Amino acid sequence: MSGPSPVAVEQPDSFAFAGAHADAAEKAVARYPEGRQASAVLPLLDLAQRQHGGWVPRAAIEHIAGRLGMAKIRVMEVATFYTMINLAPVGTFHLQVCGTTPCMLRGAGEVFRAIRDEVGIGPGETSGDGMFTCSEVECLGACVNAPMVQVNDDFVEDLSYENFAGVLRRLKNGGDLPVGSLAGRHSSEPEGGALTLTDVPVPVRFDPAAVYGMGNGSAPAVAAGAVDAPVRPPALDAPRGGKADPLTGIKGLGPKIESALHGIGIYHFDQIAAWTSGERQWVGDALKLGGRIERDDWGRQAAALAEAGEGGT
Ligand code: FES
Repeated sequence: MSGPSPVAVEQPDSFAFAGAHADAAEKAVARYPEGRQASAVLPLLDLAQRQHGGWVPRAAIEHIAGRLGMAKIRVMEVATFYTMINLAPVGTFHLQVCGTTPCMLRGAGEVFRAIRDEVGIGPGETSGDGMFTCSEVECLGACVNAPMVQVNDDFVEDLSYENFAGVLRRLKNGGDLPVGSLAGRHSSEPEGGALTLTDVPVPVRFDPAAVYGMGNGSAPAVAAGAVDAPVRPPALDAPRGGKADPLTGIKGLGPKIESALHGIGIYHFDQIAAWTSGERQWVGDALKLGGRIERDDWGRQAAALAEAGEGGT
């Protein structure tokens, strides 16, 4: 396994939890009974890392050891065991590429190739502009959507050379990180849509502030589950020829949703068939449809209905 450089050469002189991180550390320690405070070592390491800009300095190890009544080497053992704890600075985007068997068989090598081509780094390296660090890690538990990469706190799944190169270009240009499956899956359902669970929530971005009860979250907004950012699709003022298509012919689209679609200027099958992934995302968000548009493949259904002449115009 490779990762960022093991321990930073340049170290701050001191470390202490401050502000919201101090409160969160207090709460984490208080969760455990007297004499078992060492159980809080991982949350404290994580909080120290978040406070210190993505890595844990030696002074934080010492501070945590003192706080929990542990030997420094015990805290260091934990910090070096878990790849999510960085002991040296990492880039703005830490690309933790899963290299374990399912991801490796499904194309983790292509993901590494995309990182090399787009950012010019390999495992254990940070780009010259400090924007990206690449690490190879072991299974992150998203094998069903392999290959995958954890970028900072979030998973990006169902990767290929092309789509992950696109993600990297997007991040380089200041765009949002798409999270979840880039193949349109909303969870781990089969490709082509869920067969059993039919109301699967779209992926949401990890929010450490919520986990630690720290008030305002620091995670920026994301475009969930799609590479394209949500964007409103082209609308009509009224149905062409004064007659809307019977949109309820699309499986999963009932009269209530049809009426809501009319309200945003969508009247015809060909409009729905032409939506981009960003437009599907926008409509799903605006009408609170969860993953219904992708799950029931409205685009394909609408295209077939339009071609079959089921429309009113
Ligand atoms: S093998 Fe990659 S997430 Fe499990």
